[in-house]
Amino acid sequence: MKLKFLFPAAFALMTLPIAGQTPVYLDNSADIEDRIEDVMKRLTVEEKVAMVHAQSKFSSPGVKRLGIPEIWMTDGPHGIRAEVYWDEWNQARWTNDSCVAFPALTCLAATWNEDISYLYGKSIGEEARYRNKSVLLGPGVNIYRTPLNGRNFEYMGEDPYLASEMVVPYIKGVQSNGVAACVKHYALNNNEINRHTSNVIVDDRTLYEIYLPAFKAAVKEGGTWTIMGSYNLYKDQHGCHNEYLLNDILKGEWGFDGAVVSDWGGTHDTDEAITNGLDMEFGTGTNGLSTGTRNAYDNYYLATPYLKKIKSGEVGTEELDDKVRRILRLAFRTVMRQDRPFGSMLSDEHYAAARKIGNEGIVLLKNDGHLLPIVPETGCRILVVGENAIKMMTVGGGSSSLKVQHEISPLEGIRDAFAGKAEVSYARGYVGDVSGEYDGVSSGQNLKDDRSADELIEEAVGKAASADYVIFVGGLNKSWQQDCENSDRKGLGLPYGQDKLIEALAEANRNLVVVNISGNAVAMPWIGKVPAVVQGWYLGSEAGNSIADILSGAVNPSGKLPFTFPAALEDSPAHSVGEYPGTRRDDGIWDIEYKEGIFVGYRWFDKEEIEPLFAFGHGLSYTSFTYGKAETDSRTMTADGDITVSVDITNSGDCEGKEVVQLYISDLKSSLPRPVKELKGFRKVSLSPGESTTVTFTISKEDLSFFDPDRHKWVAEPGKFKALIGSASDDIRTEVPFVLE
Ligand code: BGC
Repeated sequence: MKLKFLFPAAFALMTLPIAGQTPVYLDNSADIEDRIEDVMKRLTVEEKVAMVHAQSKFSSPGVKRLGIPEIWMTDGPHGIRAEVYWDEWNQARWTNDSCVAFPALTCLAATWNEDISYLYGKSIGEEARYRNKSVLLGPGVNIYRTPLNGRNFEYMGEDPYLASEMVVPYIKGVQSNGVAACVKHYALNNNEINRHTSNVIVDDRTLYEIYLPAFKAAVKEGGTWTIMGSYNLYKDQHGCHNEYLLNDILKGEWGFDGAVVSDWGGTHDTDEAITNGLDMEFGTGTNGLSTGTRNAYDNYYLATPYLKKIKSGEVGTEELDDKVRRILRLAFRTVMRQDRPFGSMLSDEHYAAARKIGNEGIVLLKNDGHLLPIVPETGCRILVVGENAIKMMTVGGGSSSLKVQHEISPLEGIRDAFAGKAEVSYARGYVGDVSGEYDGVSSGQNLKDDRSADELIEEAVGKAASADYVIFVGGLNKSWQQDCENSDRKGLGLPYGQDKLIEALAEANRNLVVVNISGNAVAMPWIGKVPAVVQGWYLGSEAGNSIADILSGAVNPSGKLPFTFPAALEDSPAHSVGEYPGTRRDDGIWDIEYKEGIFVGYRWFDKEEIEPLFAFGHGLSYTSFTYGKAETDSRTMTADGDITVSVDITNSGDCEGKEVVQLYISDLKSSLPRPVKELKGFRKVSLSPGESTTVTFTISKEDLSFFDPDRHKWVAEPGKFKALIGSASDDIRTEVPFVLE
């Protein structure tokens, strides 16, 4: 309802006469740029400086005198964060700020479905709008470089093409609500350890081919209205005021017209913040009292220190005006927008969306002997084991932690799905992290269990021996060093003795299903002994229902891995040739060189011919799909033309299912080293048993190009290529050669 009052305020702004100026009368439909210019004429320098930094943890002031509203932001990216105190991270204990938690972005990426991404963005944007936010701090698209990165679960995997395709609809969905997406963390924020002090050293080709494409797509195709700078350094400058990344590339090469928001506490220097592309400073710290200032926010780098420099003539106002124009543009696109919908919160549709995203993102990694789905016979007994079957996963993990209206645990979901069909019992199996509190939001669970590890294993194994099926639900849990912001994992292995427990369960019962909850690859030393493995991600409010839908066969799995599962940590590029976490310099900065270059994820495994535990793009179904022979409309691509490649896909099994058809391109001869193949297209198709469809991809020169660092441009070299089409990066079913003239 508040919106009603905003229109007259915004209108008043445009008609307000000020001394010595002829008022410009504009109506609501006037071009935003004209209105921005009109406002610019009316603002004082003090008002402009106030706009470029925060006034509270998550808001920046507008200009009350002119009716320009405040800009309110919220995390992101999986649900709308609880309201916090003005100056603190702690929740403010509102009683009406619980949200729907959507699955984590790794799960979204694993759907390989752009429509699902739009649904996600639209739904979360509606929640943000209802809560009157102008900016949603998400999505995150930092590339999955190492499986140790504590924030991989908030991102979209290891492949720049997949992340680019998936981020665009999310942004469009969010922004259809008059809420800005804030794509983060730009750029090269690929680990959490030393996140404020890592200086990334990466060559230009790798930067442009691997680490930038998803941000570029977010700007150029998604039209994102804001971007968040990253904590780390690049070329010895922090991401939030990085001349090269922000001025040269983002605003220069890509023409970004939105606002750059600092990450919270990511601003470190007034001069750089003025000149190097930062528009809004947030989270620098609020300990103003200890430094003797009345208002802590006056101490921000872009507050009093900036104003003083302007007043003394040390700097001009050209940069300030540019920042303010961008912020006004943001306001007109969001909070001052005429056609802004009202949003909605906690709706049935949002829960249904969360469940659907989970259903499409869960990946069936292994299913020997068709153990899944579980179709219970009379008297069937199912034993569920593991802490993650009962632990709330929406609380924890850092800034993406949520206060949810409800969260269905896997155990609840499984009980519901099999009610009346099987007897479901539970054994704890191991104790992991029993805390359940983040920034004042509590899960309300008491998971304390004082039994020893051996006692817990003994109980679980005892019960497993007499069960028909055992479903183990474990993995990581968003606690410190287990998929959590500001910390990385210590290794690839599962924590809390889970490997031992799984081995023991496998001995006790052949019908063992392991459901791994994580946003990262984990080692599976027991893989040969476990017939069925499901990658369950962090699935949000409807977690248990989504998992039960898959286990029971109510939904046929169709997720595909957005990153490689290495068999061992040393197999992954950052840990074999690359550097991690780098070398500490005398000044305390960690130089971290991405020596693996463009060979990230499957690009590395292909090149080195290392067999991963599970490959990028892998994911099974309860049905099977056969691929026909790939055909092109022409075997020759002219310098300015496209070609198409088509393949027939048939559901050759006996239930309805979805398949993600993946197109990879291989450059057979090149002047620079190239990956064996790179993803350049995918399509998710739904087919009934026996049904066929033809999938057609258009291949353009862009899909054949690499970034030539010497010429600083994308180049497609004439020569021979191959289009490879398959069901996973390690399961190519058909290929066809062609030539670029
Ligand atoms: C995180 C951001 C987040 C911000 C605000 C930072 O610590 O890196 O992703 O949006 O806090 O909570």
